Amino acid sequence: MDKLGSLPRVQTLSESGIESVPLQYVRADLEKSKPHDTQVPVIDLHSLSSPYLQQETIAAICSAAQNWGFFQIVNHGIPLPLTSRMQAVGKAFFDLPLEEKELYKNEEAGSPIGYGSKLGYSPDAKLDWGDYYYNVIMPPHRRNMSKWPKQPSDFTEVMDEYSREVYKLSELLMQALSTGLGLKDENSLNEAVGGDKKEIHSRINYYPPCPQPELVLGLSPHSDPNVVTFLLHDETPGLQIRKDGNWVDVQSVPGALIVNIGDAMEIISNGKYKSIEHRSLVHKERARMSWALFCCPHDEVNLSPLPTLIEKDHPPVYQDLRDKEKHEGISGERRSDCLLAKDKKDKIETKEVSPKLAEVFTSVDDDGSSSEGFEDEKFQVEGDEQGDDSKEDL
Ligand code: OGA
Ligand code: NI
Repeated sequence: MDKLGSLPRVQTLSESGIESVPLQYVRADLEKSKPHDTQVPVIDLHSLSSPYLQQETIAAICSAAQNWGFFQIVNHGIPLPLTSRMQAVGKAFFDLPLEEKELYKNEEAGSPIGYGSKLGYSPDAKLDWGDYYYNVIMPPHRRNMSKWPKQPSDFTEVMDEYSREVYKLSELLMQALSTGLGLKDENSLNEAVGGDKKEIHSRINYYPPCPQPELVLGLSPHSDPNVVTFLLHDETPGLQIRKDGNWVDVQSVPGALIVNIGDAMEIISNGKYKSIEHRSLVHKERARMSWALFCCPHDEVNLSPLPTLIEKDHPPVYQDLRDKEKHEGISGERRSDCLLAKDKKDKIETKEVSPKLAEVFTSVDDDGSSSEGFEDEKFQVEGDEQGDDSKEDL
């Protein structure tokens, strides 16, 4: 199988009517989820505007960010017709004929932009049962318009409108999270990721029906490298998060958005808010889709724990990641194919090396690798053999 270009799309495989999945997708030792009755917290943001309930809501957000790394928000202020339109344009894109989608295919090594599928760079790398469309949405000058679909015709308009809403929500949440850290300035976290220069990236995931869903993953275990992620889904279950060693289903709550803390937030909060490993399952009869909007730091931001959070009892958990020299020579492949496996981090964290994440980021030079959501090298992570790494962990 070629590195770029000739990989069959998972959608094509699924539509071909095959009865068993090709070996590259089979996870022989897939870790099953155990029955559980825990549920990701659901937070009603309406009460943020009430002077009586505001403190309680902020506390709920911060507790969820700290103890779960994931929560769902309802009454988030994004009008239902807009989320429906966002879903519709994503569906319409994946409904385009294959040749049309391939016009926007991801072909630039080191960049996740465009239409793609996870690639395997070693013969036994494990592939994901899903395709995606990725682009930078905000700021507009960072869009790669050559990968921006012409159909459906309202794609750009809807992306614009929806991402503006998510941008506002990201600021609201960062205010709550700043307050929860005891920071005097509620804009502290927002400023730490670049303020007005922060970015919104989008990844639309399409997980087609699979003849043997129990053998595959739609998306390998990973943590998101960005600040905070807003995930809209189609009410077909499939997302799981690792909680106390178990895989826990994230249940669909109609109208809710799923929010998760990314690595960048874990770093700037000096480890208080947790970026949690998650993965996606697929179904036999039904396709599943999700629309992830990633709030990302500005490219030139120097991500490190906020100085005010560092005290004698709380030494920095992460070191400055922006050390260009250490990353020189990395030949990044497709970042979105190389999501950072949290287990990998944990393994490294248990070594007698500190600081933690920095070790991951400096250990990749030999591999040439990448991570979802970033276009410069500060977030290059263990990568192109990630399928193998995941295999160990699954
Ligand atoms: C992602 C992601 C989860 C899902 O795109 O980073 O984790 O359920 N998606 O599609
Ligand atoms: Ni993710």
